[in-house]
This record gives sequence, structure tokens and C-alpha cells, in this order.
Amino acid sequence: MKQVTILSIESSCDDTSAAVIRDGLLMSNVTASQKVHEEYGGVVPELASRAHQQNILPVVDTALKRAGIDKNELSAIAFTRGPGLLGSLLVGTSFAKGLALALNIPLVEVNHLQGHIMAHFVEPSEQYRQTVPSLQGIEIQHPHYPFLCLLVSGGNSQIVRVEAYNRMTILGQTIDDAAGEAFDKCAKVLGLPYPGGPWIDRLSKQGDSTKYPLAKPNLTGYDYSFSGLKTSFLYTIRDMLKARGMTTVDELAERIPKLKEDLCASLQKTIINILLGKLKKAAKDENISEIAIAGGVSANSGLREALIDYGHRYQWKVYIPPFSFTTDNAAMIGQAGYYKYLDGDFCSIEAVPYAKTRI
Ligand code: KG4
Repeated sequence: MKQVTILSIESSCDDTSAAVIRDGLLMSNVTASQKVHEEYGGVVPELASRAHQQNILPVVDTALKRAGIDKNELSAIAFTRGPGLLGSLLVGTSFAKGLALALNIPLVEVNHLQGHIMAHFVEPSEQYRQTVPSLQGIEIQHPHYPFLCLLVSGGNSQIVRVEAYNRMTILGQTIDDAAGEAFDKCAKVLGLPYPGGPWIDRLSKQGDSTKYPLAKPNLTGYDYSFSGLKTSFLYTIRDMLKARGMTTVDELAERIPKLKEDLCASLQKTIINILLGKLKKAAKDENISEIAIAGGVSANSGLREALIDYGHRYQWKVYIPPFSFTTDNAAMIGQAGYYKYLDGDFCSIEAVPYAKTRI
């Protein structure tokens, strides 16, 4: 039987990524991250699109070469259609369309958020494992349907009930900022580089999470809110500055030992408690004990540890994706695209990207 070989392309934000999946096994996954945004403290959409244009050809070429696959062997091209930054999505979408037309093969559109959840089903080939030391010798567990997925990234915070790769229901989501946004914006207040999530994660390890009590939202149901927490974090610092007649966090940090570490630990702990509190409620109400996390924030070490702890306490079977599949990557898009290809779920050449959408 002919092998099914999917090239996937992800360009929804500031990572240009391409992957090859052959018969359900990941052969390559190449990502070019964009450093250009660091000095601005956040992603600048116009610069992101330009960088995607520069990166896309070498990234796709490298993904094919590392997989040892010629473009003429491809069965289909899967691409992220949305949600994301329109200019960024346009680059990946146009490239996918052009290549699919040139090779006369089908196009498969993938929803970025579904892609994050499908990261749990990526099965790296032996060849790919050889290139990623953290994947060597580990067995990746795949969740069983139905499961709940806490999807937490820079743009989304959702609890999703997953019935099948193409049947998902959002039980709750943020009504304002995403968890990743809260990490990044609070990190910016502390003068930490962008993206701030990994920095807060690192500093938290040396901090006391009980030092600075921060506001928690009081929403019923499964929806999240992080804007009040952000304000509370900002006001905590503002009040300390005012009390000492200072103007910058760095001045304050010179006087207060472990200031940044304690603030980071307090913030991280509060975000984790908010996220897992709602997840616990959803798991109980839906009577589901298969629990997964996905998205960039799922790389957070405190969240991972807390989820494992909840798993022990509430008899959940917990699924945490390998680090390389948590932040934006094309492997997860290829996995969703592979399933769609097998179902003959192709999209028209006229498909346009979308900035916003629901699962
Ligand atoms: O999924 P992702 O790569 O992009 C989006 O689709 O948004 O997520 C990026 C987000 C950023 O907000 C980043 O700060 C956060 O994931 N992030 C983390 C960690 N690693 C990445 N947040 C907390 N702790 C981390 N270790």
C-alpha cells in the first residue's frame, strides 16, 4: 500500500515550523523562532509576517531533508488556517497552497487549537528520536477518548472536552487575558525579557509562593479571567514603590532580597491554582479522569508538578506532552492533518486564513 506522507506548516504567530509525518510517525519537525520581537517585549505582527517570509522556504526544505523525503513523495500538505495573526497565517497558507498546486496534491486545513491538543498523539519515529535527546527511550502515552484538555497558551486558556480528533467542545475559556499573556505581561513589569513565561518559571524555583498574596477571580462555571490578577500584581509593586519613594522595580530589588523570585513564585502559584481549580471542577462534573494539558504554558514546571499531584489526589490519569510539542510546532499540525487526510477531509484552494475562531 502507498505510504501516506504529510508535510505540515505552522505559522500562526512568531514560530515558522514545518514537519513531515509518514504513516503516523513523525520524521522531522523544524522550527525557526523569531528573535526580532525580543526588544519590543511582545510580538510585532508586521515583523512576524516578514520573518515568516524569510524563514518558510529554508524551514520546509530542512524538514524534507531531515525526513529524507523528496517533495514528490508527499501525499498532502496540512497547514494552520487559524486562529492567529492574519499576516503570519497568510504566509503559511499561501506557501501551502502554492506547493499543493505545484505538486497537484490535496490541502488539509488545521485549526491551531485542535493542533495543540493533537500534540498528545504525535508519535516520533526512531529516526526523529535520535535528533532529540529528551525523547530518547521515553514512551509517549496517548490519552483515551473522551478526555479533558487544559489548553493554555499565549492567546488561549480553555478547558476542552475531547471526544475525537475532530469532535471537541469548549467547556470554559478566558473572558479576558490568556494565562500565557498574564505570565508575559507580569514578566514585563519585572523587566524580564519576552516571552516572560519561561523566566517566571525559572525564578519561581528560588522564590516563596506565599510571600505576596494576589487577587483570584471569582467566576462561576468553567470560565477563566486573568486581568484582575495582572492588576493585582501591578498594584502590589506600585504600592511597594510608593511606600519607599522609589520608581523602578530594580531599585526595589536592590533593597528587598529575593523580590523578583518571590513575586514570580506568588504569581505562578496563583495562576496554577486558578487553572487547576476549574479543571478539577470540570473533571468532577463531566466524570472524566483522563486529563491532558497542552499549549505553550504547559511547559511550565510548576503546572506540570501540580497536575501530577492533582492526578494522585483525584485518581486522574494525567497526560503531559514532551516539551518539544508544547509551544507552537508543525508536528501537532501534521498529526491533526494526518487524521483528516485519512478521513478524506480536504480543503479548497480558495480557503483563506482566519484570525479568530472556536474549536
Ligand atoms: O502555545 P504557544 O507557543 O503560542 C501560542 O499559540 O500562544 O504559547 C506561548 C506562551 C507564551 O505566553 C509563553 O510565555 C508561554 O507560552 N510559556 C510559558 C512557559 N514556556 C512558554 N509560560 C510559563 N512557563 C513556561 N515554562
